[in-house]
Amino acid sequence: MSAIALLPAAGSGSRMGGALPKQYLDLLGKPLIWHTLHALHAVPELARIVVVLSPDDGWWDGYDWQSFARLTVLRCGGDSRAASVLGGLQALAMSEPGNSWVLVHDAARPCVDPALVSGMIAQLAEHPVGGILAVPVADTLKLADAARHIDHTHPRDQLWQAQTPQMFRLADLAGALEAGMGPDITDEASALEKLGQSPALVMGSPWNLKVTYPQDLQLAALILQARNT
Ligand code: C5P
Repeated sequence: MSAIALLPAAGSGSRMGGALPKQYLDLLGKPLIWHTLHALHAVPELARIVVVLSPDDGWWDGYDWQSFARLTVLRCGGDSRAASVLGGLQALAMSEPGNSWVLVHDAARPCVDPALVSGMIAQLAEHPVGGILAVPVADTLKLADAARHIDHTHPRDQLWQAQTPQMFRLADLAGALEAGMGPDITDEASALEKLGQSPALVMGSPWNLKVTYPQDLQLAALILQARNT
């Protein structure tokens, strides 16, 4: 079974500070997104790997991407992650069948394990909706007021932390994002949930962290170095 990876990479990375978008920050001598592409190229089921950049991205062309043979670059990113994904899906829909599986993966998750992605594709191939990588919440959760006083402890038994990839059929996901675009859509699954669908949870990994704050970059470097030794 073949599938397509779609990487939204049109964010500004404002939480990292600095002018360089986080997908281009240096990670072990390469831009962060290089590691994400490297991991996805090691997944044999991914026939195409599509990166969605901002239309005014001035950094991409400054690097060499020739080693990535299955790569397509689109410059149709929007002003939210969901808008960037939808732009990419609409462009893909011109050449790919609507029932193609699309795995949306954050450019900012460079430590994703290729074996985990292959396993997810095998596990969800016959699923009627699709699903996402996620990990059970490990910490005790507190609900607090604005003054940071605890109101109560929230039970964590059924809570999961969503990761990417998130795997859905191209037409289903595009339709769900078109119908539900808004600030409450923070991942692909939430768009499907809004339509009453129940995406599956596939066990992810704590190593599959999203680089959001500067210290995440240090952690990502340690994870990649440990994997390569
Ligand atoms: O900002 P955040 O960490 O949630 O971004 C997750 C992913 O979505 C990143 O790879 C980022 O580049 C991408 N993104 C995007 N378009 C936006 C905002 C974020 O493609 N407008």
